[in-house]
Amino acid sequence: MSGLMARKSAADLESEASHGGGLKRSLNKWHLTALGVGATIGAGIFATTGTAIVGDAARPGAGPAIVFSFLLTAIACGFAALCYAEFAAMVPVAGSAYTYAYAALGELVAWIIGWDLIVEYAVGNIGVAIGWSGHFRELVSHFGVDIPSWLATDYRSAHDAATALAGGTNDAVTQYLASAWTGAPHLFGIPVIVNLPAAAVVFVMTIVLVIGVRESANFNNAMVVLKIAIILFFLAVGVFLITPSNWNDAASGGFAPNGFAGVSAAAAIIFFSYIGFDAVSTAAEEAENPARDMPFGIIMSLVVCTVLYIAISAVMTGMSPWQQLGTAEPMITALQFSNGPPLLVNASRFIIALGAVIAMGSVLLVFQLGQPRIFYSMARDGLLPPVMAKVHPRFRTPYVGTILTGTFVATFAAFANIAEVVDLTNIGTLFAFVLVSIGVIFLRRTDPDRPRPFRVPGVPFTPLISVAACLYLMFQLPRVTWIRFGIWLAIGLVFYFVYGYKNSVLRRQSSNA
Ligand code: ALA
Repeated sequence: MSGLMARKSAADLESEASHGGGLKRSLNKWHLTALGVGATIGAGIFATTGTAIVGDAARPGAGPAIVFSFLLTAIACGFAALCYAEFAAMVPVAGSAYTYAYAALGELVAWIIGWDLIVEYAVGNIGVAIGWSGHFRELVSHFGVDIPSWLATDYRSAHDAATALAGGTNDAVTQYLASAWTGAPHLFGIPVIVNLPAAAVVFVMTIVLVIGVRESANFNNAMVVLKIAIILFFLAVGVFLITPSNWNDAASGGFAPNGFAGVSAAAAIIFFSYIGFDAVSTAAEEAENPARDMPFGIIMSLVVCTVLYIAISAVMTGMSPWQQLGTAEPMITALQFSNGPPLLVNASRFIIALGAVIAMGSVLLVFQLGQPRIFYSMARDGLLPPVMAKVHPRFRTPYVGTILTGTFVATFAAFANIAEVVDLTNIGTLFAFVLVSIGVIFLRRTDPDRPRPFRVPGVPFTPLISVAACLYLMFQLPRVTWIRFGIWLAIGLVFYFVYGYKNSVLRRQSSNA
């Protein structure tokens, strides 16, 4: 039992970091903020907001009150961000929550978090790839290329659209998706529906990452500028296309058509759009001054994203009746339904699609880069087979982990439904936040004297509020998501007891001592 609780001391972790890879400390606080914003703005705002506004079969939508959902989630993330910041400044090593947990809560919990982070990084990227695909399809359509729907969506979306069409819904989006159901070729009587662009983008990205085009801070800064520029462009155009009655149309249920239930359910969906600010913590080994700059980077990126998200969702729901926005490209749909001059609408659609493709591409890169690094840390600790820490002799990249991640993400991106993937990512990430927040409380007790360059105010209350807020959001997610997540964790536990328990470097060291 004590073996399961074996903990790395924070000092061990730090010396591992300073003697280990010897990464260059070159990121200042604005680089870190940019890293956070770069990893954060992606499919969440560009793609999942649609479901959050309109709802789906499993839950009510927020309608124009989506702005409150963004606020609610930002507050929940803010409490968790403070906890991440304390850890990141105190244990400035790469590896994110997994590494922190090893120091604070022992090996078993570290394993659970590491396993859980696969849900955040790899499963999250499946969602981003699907969101990317939708905008890519829109983009190439401006060049006269029409990707057949059976090659650009998933089985469930096509089936649902076909059912909706049969039930009398007859807008352009439903028609397009339903055409996948009717137009797909059949194999053994089953329609073949594959999201080809989603799989292809992951495939290309994997090759790039194996060869080792490391995302540089400069590239990331350029991405961030571009993302913010696209969003400001959308706001600038959108503001002129607002019909204020859309915000409060009594016939559509008013400002909050489903009350607080809708706002909460949406908050749990758009949580996806905030995932990434915690990725700042993975760069702790590369920060010039982690103690001061990590908390700044984490919290500032959260603030920037919150302001932009609230502005976008307010404008979007002002541009179009909210019921129309339930697509995987809601900003484009808002333009489509806005009654603006056709030339302006068309040009804006093109610009948003282009920006979204690039923005989501950079999120894909950050997470596709991050996952093998987490595998690398876990393999270095003996919890995963050593092959995952294998570095390519020529390219010097963790190529095995990179290729495995790429294969997993690309395969699921080809077939999965974005809403289901997003729900799973959210529950997994929220669970990691819960464990990190509890970790702050534990580490204050077990290692009270260690210098804490950044201290979460009001411990234990602040971390407990974070735990409560994250649990609240988790409970807004559908039952099936809980079941899937439970199965995932159970598989992880089996793997730990079959492999990691026996091979853990830390446990072997302590039993030899
Ligand atoms: N926050 C990231 C996105 O929205 C995962 O794409």
